[in-house]
Amino acid sequence: MGQPTFYIENNFEDERVDGIDKVTGKATYSAEHDIENMAYAVFVCSTIPKGAISNMQVGAAKNAPGVLDIIHHLNCPVVPGYNPYFKDPNKKGYEWRGLKVFNNNLVYSYGQPIALVVADTLERAVYAASLVKATYVKEAFSTNFQEDRTKESRLKKSGDYKRGEADFYKTAAYKIEAEYDIPIETHNPMELHATTAVWNGENQLTVYDKSQGPKGTQRDLANNFGLEEKNIRVVTEFVGGAFGSALRSWPHVTAAVIAAKKTKRPVKLMITREQMFTTVGYRPEAWQKIGISANEDGTLSGITHHAVSNTSSYEDFGEGIVNVSQFLYGCPNVNTSYRLLPLDLNTPTWMRGPGPATGCFALESALDELSYVLKMDPIELRLRNDVSVHPVNKLPWTTRFLKECYALGKKGIGWQNRPTEPGSLKENGMLVGYGMAVGVFGAGRGQAAAKGILKADGTFVMQSAVSDMGPGTATAMVNIGAELMGLAKQKVFFELGDTNFPPGPTQGGSGSTSAIGTAINAVCAALQENLKELAIAHIPAFKYAKPADITYKNGKLSLATGDSIQYTEVISKADKPLIEVVKDAARATAEAQKYAMNSFSAHFVKLHVHPITGVISIKHIVSVADCGKIIAINPARSQMVGGVVGGIGMALTEETVVDHRYGKYMNANFADYHVPVNADAPPMDIYFINEPDHIISPTGAKGIGEIALVGVAPAIANAVYNATGKRIRRLPITPDKLVG
Ligand code: MOS
Repeated sequence: MGQPTFYIENNFEDERVDGIDKVTGKATYSAEHDIENMAYAVFVCSTIPKGAISNMQVGAAKNAPGVLDIIHHLNCPVVPGYNPYFKDPNKKGYEWRGLKVFNNNLVYSYGQPIALVVADTLERAVYAASLVKATYVKEAFSTNFQEDRTKESRLKKSGDYKRGEADFYKTAAYKIEAEYDIPIETHNPMELHATTAVWNGENQLTVYDKSQGPKGTQRDLANNFGLEEKNIRVVTEFVGGAFGSALRSWPHVTAAVIAAKKTKRPVKLMITREQMFTTVGYRPEAWQKIGISANEDGTLSGITHHAVSNTSSYEDFGEGIVNVSQFLYGCPNVNTSYRLLPLDLNTPTWMRGPGPATGCFALESALDELSYVLKMDPIELRLRNDVSVHPVNKLPWTTRFLKECYALGKKGIGWQNRPTEPGSLKENGMLVGYGMAVGVFGAGRGQAAAKGILKADGTFVMQSAVSDMGPGTATAMVNIGAELMGLAKQKVFFELGDTNFPPGPTQGGSGSTSAIGTAINAVCAALQENLKELAIAHIPAFKYAKPADITYKNGKLSLATGDSIQYTEVISKADKPLIEVVKDAARATAEAQKYAMNSFSAHFVKLHVHPITGVISIKHIVSVADCGKIIAINPARSQMVGGVVGGIGMALTEETVVDHRYGKYMNANFADYHVPVNADAPPMDIYFINEPDHIISPTGAKGIGEIALVGVAPAIANAVYNATGKRIRRLPITPDKLVG
């Protein structure tokens, strides 16, 4: 075990390399690229959840000032990817994913884009869009998850699992059985999704897009518009948060490109806050039922976990909600099932901690409930069921430091003050509760390529076509590059957000640092080899040396004889302005066959509940992360804090409400959809185990982003029970659920 590190206030050692650009407004986000002759596009969206458009009334809008075009299903140009194999249906390969915007007159969900108004200013486009009307043939629809999830014939199978005896818990002496619900949650990053499309000729396209993966957007556009990838440039310099909503290209990306082609002008399309609810995904609504049992000593004897979550009628989205129950703890008898319920809503998508965030709410709440049945401390219960070998694939974990997480969190929160009898402790008239829960997410290493440019002027520039939605990718890569090359951080730069750079991964699943960091490792090793060869060729003292005789350290090449030379001089003497390499680092496929790979966290909460109003006030959160080596301490801490705040939202405030009379989201705005604000964020202590995982990647990093949020909501729910004796099994835990 290494030394656990933790945040030291005012530690600016790892200040974000792009921090000043972001806070001074210098950073250019996707909607902020102004191109000459640019036109502005605004979506018109459906006002019914299901049916067909029988008539589009666009006359008034067409005559409005500044309108250039109104695109809808009746006049939309052919999009090659909508039907790529119409000439040869036997051909297989690319399949369109999701809604084919403006492809036909069918409406699948309320708020589906049905027309795009393009005008010479944004204001004129907004006004003209208000004049477009559609007439519909309405059809019966279903948006009511709770009503339909019990209708077996409506459900689609998404995986079953069993080891030992199914439903073993039913016959056990110590058990609980309970149902847990989470509502739809919408990502709601600050930055709205936006795409600016510029055709530079018949087959050349530049797109400025809010994307977690510029390479992914480039690939999508190549398939969708029948272009070669090399003829498409996607630029995503800065991202103002995403949480998963920018993991794929949604209809506005396609629509902007269609409009730019049709109007022969650069077109900017930024969706509205309301359209963020209806067009770029959300965390699906989910119902879960858990049965869990233990022997008298607390060892688990059976877990049964069933889940249903919603998808759309036109696309399946599932996220392995029940998987956590299969492997997080040791248990001989486990059975799980997962089903999807198609509803007449837009397609959901990955949202921070997809799968485990929902699954751990149920599992970690259920374990807490079981701890009261057993009259056992919930940490002790988890310790008794800790495992070092993955119960499903029987592989050892690369690293798993949950026990260490418990010890740090227990101390940090003051667990000894937790009342064993719920509702028995008061402070200043407020009920006091303590709770904890575990977070987990898959770790691994994806493929990534990067370029390294070592210049004679002493600077080192790295490049990769990735984007940074906030975790601080460039800061982490600068730290890795500076350390490997032994250079001052001020001389090291990481450029991202442009498909002209070597292909990097999509930023998701907490995998950026391990993937790109591995490519940077390869780049730095190759640069050092190149320098050695240049020294042999151009520096007299090195002439008879072999590469193996030369050591590279802190920017210097040295021989055993004592001769040494700065790398900048080697490049200059070779008469070059710079040397550069591109390196590709493979996925961790071989490693995954030998090891189980996960990041873990444990979250500890102390809160107050007002005994009469039920208002919850979180007093303190301690979160401990086992996410491998910490590469950049401040961004890592911020990543944890942000995830915990997201978890507070999931637990206490966030809920996308559907009015089932209209199939419409009723709170699709920032006033009515409550994301936590500063006043909702308690004092937080973030601890890192900081134990490198060199099997997953040479950087030692596992991944932080998801485990920051996974487990927070159940930790809060468990603390609410400890304070009040009321077990709230449907999120969010609003005061009305605690009074009466
Ligand atoms: Mo995250 S849901 O992988 O963006």
